[in-house]
Amino acid sequence: MTTQNYIDANRERYLEELFRMLRIPSVSTDKKHDDDTHACAVLLQTYMAKAGLENVSLYPTDGHPIVYADKMIDPALPTILVYGHYDVQPAAPLNEWKSGPFEPEIRKTDRHPDGAIFARGATDDKGQMFIHVKAVEAMIQTNTLPCNVKFMIEGEEEVGSPNLDPFIRKYKDMLAADVILVSDTSLIGKKVPSITVGLRGLTYLDVKVTSARADMHSGLFGGAVANPINTLCEMIASLKDEKKHITIPGFYDDVHFPSEEERDMMRNAPFDAEEYMDSPGVFGLEGEEGFHTYERTGILPTLDCNGIWGGFMEEGSKTIIPAVANAKISMRLVSKQNYHKITDLFTAHFKSIAPDSVKVEVHPHHGGNPYVTPTDTPEYKAASAAMEEAFGKVPVPMYEGGSIPIIANFKEVLGIESILMGFGFDTDGLHSPNEHFGVWNFNKGIDTVPRFFAKYAEMKIQA
Ligand code: BES
Ligand code: MN
Ligand code: MN
Repeated sequence: MTTQNYIDANRERYLEELFRMLRIPSVSTDKKHDDDTHACAVLLQTYMAKAGLENVSLYPTDGHPIVYADKMIDPALPTILVYGHYDVQPAAPLNEWKSGPFEPEIRKTDRHPDGAIFARGATDDKGQMFIHVKAVEAMIQTNTLPCNVKFMIEGEEEVGSPNLDPFIRKYKDMLAADVILVSDTSLIGKKVPSITVGLRGLTYLDVKVTSARADMHSGLFGGAVANPINTLCEMIASLKDEKKHITIPGFYDDVHFPSEEERDMMRNAPFDAEEYMDSPGVFGLEGEEGFHTYERTGILPTLDCNGIWGGFMEEGSKTIIPAVANAKISMRLVSKQNYHKITDLFTAHFKSIAPDSVKVEVHPHHGGNPYVTPTDTPEYKAASAAMEEAFGKVPVPMYEGGSIPIIANFKEVLGIESILMGFGFDTDGLHSPNEHFGVWNFNKGIDTVPRFFAKYAEMKIQA
């Protein structure tokens, strides 16, 4: 039996198994779901063993376990290490979901006329990660696996992978491989495929501005003291100029743009502004002057306020000057920007622009560095050829806006480059209510992955 025959004969079961995994609310950010998250890792283990993988094991961490498995057919052959995550973002707000976030259901949409699986984690990342488990199952079961394969699937990507860096340092030998293969990014569309060659990094901070010991009467003090909410807003507003360029000194020092050729490929890739705007229902697009939307999300860094609060927030009115204001600020990083360096630049600048009337605290959360995949390598060429064969068109190398912070560590610690071959769409509602993953996309992924394995093994052996 060929790999493709096996896949075609088992598509129904593949979907049923994915549904079972989607029914487990493996929300890594929520302690109440710790048992579910663990149960999801155990179910994944079961599927890996059934696929014919060996050394299937759970590696406990200080947080959620890492699922490892491999199939070594010949140490002389190249090895592909598949990375993905089985944890998901919280489902809230629940009332916005048309069907339960953990009750997967197939419905048709304009972009998915063949139907899409609606569930939290459908595309990010259970459905995408499962593509590899199922493609590898097909190759093992039909004796067509052309090289060695290892899996490392974590349960903490959505909380910044705090335990994966120590894990890869400790198990460097076990994880030895020639390339890392990841499906946790997007595809431009069905007609024009893409391979992600850039992921943004991230730094995330809490800031707190204080002006007094306690809230004050706004008649007795208003006009004569600093209002920390106003001050915080002024400080945040000053972080960008009228062209939406970030004003922190040194912020762009390590930003290098891709070649004009690569930028042209991206700018000429089909972009449907309406569709892009429609998925979250935004009223308009805006960003730094002189850049295409794909460039604004792919090759430019950002600085955004994720939340801001303070003062009186109950119903009705209360006349106060608040003593405290808070905000959560994140910066997406690109190119050679380093998140420790940017965190320091932000902190120093933010404190320097504060008036003497307030105290400023800055508390960094997690972070990660940006990553760029080199394209003049056997692995990129194999990925491009595999997609070309499966989609009938050469894929566009795309710089994407999202972050998978651990990818940069894989390069730094293990010395291995990653191929980011995603099969979802940006409009699939990742992290939003009604997240979904096209049945077409799931199947296309399963059809594409064995082609990558075959082409990569061939090119690597020739090289
Ligand atoms: N899979 C996404 C990242 C992504 C999505 C990259 C689409 C490119 C295209 C990942 O699960 C994610 O959400 N990452 C977080 C990282 C954070 C929690 C540290 C992000 O980008 O906000
Ligand atoms: Mn993801
Ligand atoms: Mn995510």
